[in-house]
Amino acid sequence: MALIDRFGRKHDYLRISVTDRCNLRCVYCMPPEGVPFVPHSEILSYEQITEVVRVGAKLGIRRLRLTGGEPLVRKDIEKLVSQLAAIEGIEDIALTTNGIFLAKKAQALKEAGVTRINLSLDTMDPEKFAMVTRGGDVKRVLDALHTSIAVGFSPIKLNVVLMKGVNDNEVADFLKLSMEHPIQVRFIEYMPIGHENDEWRTKYLPLTHVHTICDQLGVPYGPTDLVYGNGPAENFRFEGAKGSFGLIHPVSEHFCSNCNRLRLTADGFLKPCLYWDEELNVKRALGDEEALTQLFNKALEVKPENHEMANALNHEAKSHKPTTRRMSQIGG
Ligand code: 5AD
Ligand code: SF4
Repeated sequence: MALIDRFGRKHDYLRISVTDRCNLRCVYCMPPEGVPFVPHSEILSYEQITEVVRVGAKLGIRRLRLTGGEPLVRKDIEKLVSQLAAIEGIEDIALTTNGIFLAKKAQALKEAGVTRINLSLDTMDPEKFAMVTRGGDVKRVLDALHTSIAVGFSPIKLNVVLMKGVNDNEVADFLKLSMEHPIQVRFIEYMPIGHENDEWRTKYLPLTHVHTICDQLGVPYGPTDLVYGNGPAENFRFEGAKGSFGLIHPVSEHFCSNCNRLRLTADGFLKPCLYWDEELNVKRALGDEEALTQLFNKALEVKPENHEMANALNHEAKSHKPTTRRMSQIGG
């Protein structure tokens, strides 16, 4: 079996948001007043998530990523990891986290079956970090980074959302980090998800900026395909560097033709595309393998060919309705 959509794209990757809650409030992810949280009773249980993944694995899902909100705020998350790791067909489990609780949990997560970690770190300046995350302590994320290297997650990726006037002056520091440590620094274009507004418009910066800074550094660099991953990053490495860096430019240059992923939200919806509002209600199909199989197939049927994030830059009309979910309710 294979999950192939109308445009011939093969789907073997499922991103699972395990909670919409988060201990931080990043400016690009949540509005200042926060987002009303889904009541606990409406969040999928670990058993329900496992049931969905079991069916997905029969259909061809091979790799998983746990996201949030912040996945580590969910109790005993390592139990879910062990359950998922035991499913036949699942080859790889990754985690995207803000890192605040990671240092403590890293070893248990590794033992349960997490192989790969993405850490969100947009700035290494303590004051700016507190501003971007509305209160976070950058030291804990840097500790988490070093613990992750020590525990042996591989690869370890740092997600850096580029924001004009916020962290565009730290690109060189992040590039140097990729020279000194066995990590992949990934610069991500700021996306207008659930909030196409002036805040996004004034902070969006295309990633050509990163190449400008690379050229200023004067160290030779070139493309590398050494980085193992599921994602859309274009990867580069400086000569002699321990790590690498990647560019993810969903807005300026979309990569939808290679899209290999579906998403499961914490409140139980299968989302074929990050950007649009199509969603399928999983709860109605739980307990019925045939119904869950149909739901995966339906998700492929309604999956759009691409997003139209770039239209937002020019105030152009869109062909479907964009999602009203914020990033914390999708999981990135
Ligand atoms: N644009 C780009 N990336 C985002 N993320 C969250 N919101 C946005 C956005 N609007 C990314 C962050 C975080 C991950 C969970 O999602 O980099 O690491
Ligand atoms: Fe929390 Fe991640 Fe959203 Fe920041 S980006 S508020 S850490 S879910």
